[in-house]
Amino acid sequence: MANLHIINHPLIQNKLTRLRDVNTNNHNFRLLLEELTAFMVYEITRDYPLKEVEIETPLETMKGKVLDTSVVLVPILRAGTGMLRGVLDLVPMARVGHIGLYRDPETLQPVEYYAKFPQTLAEAQVILVDPMLATGGSAIVGIDILKREGAQKIQFLCLVAAPEGVEALSSAHPDVSIYTAALDRELNDHGYILPGLGDAGDRIFGT
Ligand code: PRP
Ligand code: URA
Repeated sequence: MANLHIINHPLIQNKLTRLRDVNTNNHNFRLLLEELTAFMVYEITRDYPLKEVEIETPLETMKGKVLDTSVVLVPILRAGTGMLRGVLDLVPMARVGHIGLYRDPETLQPVEYYAKFPQTLAEAQVILVDPMLATGGSAIVGIDILKREGAQKIQFLCLVAAPEGVEALSSAHPDVSIYTAALDRELNDHGYILPGLGDAGDRIFGT
């Protein structure tokens, strides 16, 4: 799958293992999630465009480089909000949209309950974030919504993906790059990723 990128950096893998561990409490889970997200963002922004600007150092004038794109970060509620701080630590100028989706526990289909975006969505580099890509339903609908609102340059950032979700998302949105820290084995009968990390929202919020 050409649009799948697995980020294998040792520091990312080290933190991911601690994140998955059932003995990691809610507080540490939130901290690890933020730190991991920041590392991932460092990798996925590698190809962002730059432009030259003239600045004065204390000694002389020089041409420096700054980002030449606006960035819109969109977490899928709830669990995606746990990744917000990690992105904003590295890209503090990003604007933030929100998409509210939950999976119906019977059908596993995503149900939309909220959507709000900054006006810069159409020209911005958009990063859709959610820690889990399971069946792919939430990410597919999230990207459907972003495209409906005019977004054109979309990256999907998760931490744990199932092969079923990657397959579904790649065929629904082949133009969107998928970034994950791990591609796990499979889904169980309830749509949970194995080995996974459990229910990301519950582990972040202690529900
Ligand atoms: C989880 C997760 C994703 C979705 C992934 O959210 O955060 O949004 O499931 O599953 P999928 O790929 O099969 O759609 P959930 O629906 O449990 O909602 P929550 O974040 O409010 O807990
Ligand atoms: N959502 C989660 O939070 N975890 C899974 O394993 C699958 C969907």
